[in-house]
Amino acid sequence: MSLTQKNIISQLLYQLSGLSAAEFIQLLTEQFPGQVTFSSSFSYEDQVVTHEILSNNLPVKIFTLDTGRLFAETYSVWSSTNEKYQTKIEAYYPQANALQEFVAAKGPNSFYESVDNRKQCCFIRKVEPLKRALAGNAIWITGLRAEHSADRTNLPIIEWDEANQIIKYHPILHWTTEEVKAHISKNHIPYNPLHDKGFVSIGCAPCTRAIKPGEDFRAGRWWWEDADKKECGLHVHEEIKINR
Ligand code: ADX
Ligand code: SF4
Repeated sequence: MSLTQKNIISQLLYQLSGLSAAEFIQLLTEQFPGQVTFSSSFSYEDQVVTHEILSNNLPVKIFTLDTGRLFAETYSVWSSTNEKYQTKIEAYYPQANALQEFVAAKGPNSFYESVDNRKQCCFIRKVEPLKRALAGNAIWITGLRAEHSADRTNLPIIEWDEANQIIKYHPILHWTTEEVKAHISKNHIPYNPLHDKGFVSIGCAPCTRAIKPGEDFRAGRWWWEDADKKECGLHVHEEIKINR
């Protein structure tokens, strides 16, 4: 991170104090016009952020990474969100050739066979399309929450993402699950019905299962792998890179 980026982040942290998420996003759109974007996976968390953006008419581009392997329920929330807010959430897709070659060589479900295959699949279906989605933007808003995993507990609310050369802002980082649920219910926000069936963190269908009470929030993601490998490469933090 350069000195200029450090100064911008310090200044933003100072400006953030006392503002609601919507107010701060508004400020970001004024300081970085046309360069603020939000990635949605249509999770509970992301629906809260989408609601803040769209119900306040904030000029933020909302996009999703359609991996082609999402749950049918996820596509339904996407449709009902478009309908409720009279919008069209943009989708980014994997490069057809890369995906075709990968599936031809390894088969459709190779992610269960090795961490390398799984990471390659995540790279083709999510990480590379993400780079295209973020291109030209200065601010990337996410729905990350600290409660979701140990890696995320100490995440800064505004951070520099070296891999994508962009400033990230996590407006609901410190919200509890109860706060998220209450906000969804109070504002009649469409949400993924899988959340009512024990699914907490929802990604691709073949790589996500429900969790049992008391299990770690991310226990249902890539459950066949060791806990320390459970990131798909969308969110890479400095500490993680140093430790690996
Ligand atoms: S992941 O790294 O394990 O896949 P997670 O599901 O916790 O991520 O979601 C964290 C944040 O990453 C979401 O709030 C959202 O901003 C972004 N994200 C995750 N999956 C997608 C997706 N398919 N499309 C767009 N954004 C996504
Ligand atoms: Fe592929 Fe599973 Fe990663 Fe989705 S979560 S991109 S299906 S390995």
